Amino acid sequence: MIQADLSDKVTVITGASSGMGAAMARRFAACGSRVVLAARRFERLEALADEITRAGGTALAVRCDVSQWTQVESLVAQSLDRFGQIDVMINNAGFGYLRSLAKSPVERIDSQIDVNFKGVCYGCKAVLNHMIQRRSGHIINTGSVGSMRHYPTLAVYVGAKHAVLGFSRSLYEEVREHGIRVNVLCPGAVNTEFLQVAGFRDIPWPADGMIQATDIAELALACVALPPNIQIDTVILWPTCQVT
Ligand SMILES: NC(=O)c1ccc[n+]([C@@H]2O[C@H](COP(=O)([O-])OP(=O)(O)OC[C@H]3O[C@@H](n4cnc5c(N)ncnc54)[C@H](OP(=O)(O)O)[C@@H]3O)[C@@H](O)[C@H]2O)c1
Repeated sequence: MIQADLSDKVTVITGASSGMGAAMARRFAACGSRVVLAARRFERLEALADEITRAGGTALAVRCDVSQWTQVESLVAQSLDRFGQIDVMINNAGFGYLRSLAKSPVERIDSQIDVNFKGVCYGCKAVLNHMIQRRSGHIINTGSVGSMRHYPTLAVYVGAKHAVLGFSRSLYEEVREHGIRVNVLCPGAVNTEFLQVAGFRDIPWPADGMIQATDIAELALACVALPPNIQIDTVILWPTCQVT
């Protein structure tokens, strides 16, 4: 387990109502970071905020659909109103939709791009001026092994995750002179609700053989805990049960 003192930090996490986002929120809060929890299912965020508070941490729950720019802008504004700073922005919200393109409704094509790609762009844009002003900041975007591999019946999802990787690497070149780092975490199969939401009927991996959400939280913490002169570009993480 990484040892990190984040007691002077504020971390905003999208997709914090379940899976990897919730695990990152718990882990960062346990290291002392004040955490802002964002997603659409507010009751889940409130329950997690209560849990973190009971454990001695500080958490703010904010309802936010990352595909809506005004809601992401408001998420950042509410975080700054409450805590006065944002040190780490984790753009993690996303979902998959397992269907051939021919059979995919156009609305599902749009929403996959809106949430998985535009949501990441919005999250970055919303915090950048603040981070540039402070000459420091850390952005972690959740990609996928689909950011560099090809999977049938997930073409739009894979396209959006490729976009996340290209966007994040380009953005880093834009912001590194301002002391801002941009990392992309690209996991294979993680044991979360993602696979059910995507519509996998028969999950091809044993739950305990997959990467666990807590493993991703540890990795995100490692990225943030590194000295400020080190930039981790992209981390590709496979469970050994999955074909690479
Ligand atoms: N699990 C995997 O195998 C795997 C592998 C590679 C990459 N990933 C990526 O990892 C990230 C986290 O997924 P997970 O595995 O933790 O799955 P998860 O448990 O299903 O979590 C997805 C999170 O995204 C949020 N979300 C979805 N649409 C949203 C929207 N429009 N606005 C705000 N939040 C939204 C959900 O919250 P609400 O529904 O409450 O809004 C939920 O908190 C995603 O980007 C996913 O693509 C997952």
